Amino acid sequence: MSEPLVKMRGITKRFGGVTALIDVDLEAYAGEVLAIVGDNGAGKSTLIKILTGVYQPTEGEMFLDGLKVAFSSHADAIDMGIDAVYQTLALADHLDPAANMFLGNELTRTVLGMTFLDNKRMRSETERVLMERLGVRLKSLDAPTESLSGGQRQAVAIARAVYHEGLRVLVMDEPTAALGPQETARTLKLIQTLKAQGLAVILISHSLDDVFEVSDRIHVQRRGQRVGVVETASSNTQEVLGLIVGAEEAA
Ligand SMILES: Nc1ncnc2c1ncn2[C@@H]1O[C@H](COP(=O)(O)OP(=O)(O)O)[C@@H](O)[C@H]1O
Ligand SMILES: [Mg+2]
Repeated sequence: MSEPLVKMRGITKRFGGVTALIDVDLEAYAGEVLAIVGDNGAGKSTLIKILTGVYQPTEGEMFLDGLKVAFSSHADAIDMGIDAVYQTLALADHLDPAANMFLGNELTRTVLGMTFLDNKRMRSETERVLMERLGVRLKSLDAPTESLSGGQRQAVAIARAVYHEGLRVLVMDEPTAALGPQETARTLKLIQTLKAQGLAVILISHSLDDVFEVSDRIHVQRRGQRVGVVETASSNTQEVLGLIVGAEEAA
């Protein structure tokens, strides 16, 4: 395999007396889905919050395309092409999908020296990105986002991330946790679509079914440490569960 797009080395994170991560390495390649699994408290969210600039590591280094990077905020990570979609989606539910897509980055036009929101272009861009990048057509572009299904709301959140031309790494923390089987299947298809576009997709999931269906490699966290990385195609649920729980407990 070529050089990883993302490399984390020796990441340790302490919150006061709590050590959330101990000397963790992570690699993610362009055009792959890397799953991160592990019990509650294993450090999954903390690890990806460091990758996305939300937290700063106590120790350790990160590399993007082989170049050392350090983020002092989530905005820094976004600038470098790393973004995340959380289970909670962080959508403004009372606003329509286009308003959500451009929240804080509204498109404007200037007429006779005055600046107006360009609602028409924001809507057409929203429609275009959803269709071209995700193959999704929304039930309605007029209704508040809360009236859409869980899967469609998620597509809006993903579209907002991929609208950034420089996006190269997309982290998804438990994207199917709140979804039914049909919407889960659609979300897994979306993940495949993003992978095919060359993104590195990092998927945190409690569902080993989802993980085995969609991932290329599985990074297993246990008690703040990376305890294994397996190739999905040559592993199985048994092996991964064993790593999650730990050999002594599984024996
Ligand atoms: N902001 C925080 N302050 C203090 N402790 C935290 C904080 N965030 C996470 N932790 C602790 O770090 C450990 C790892 O948590 P987390 O990364 O959320 O695990 P996971 O996502 O795998 O469930 C846990 O012991 C958790 O209590
Ligand atoms: Mg978590």
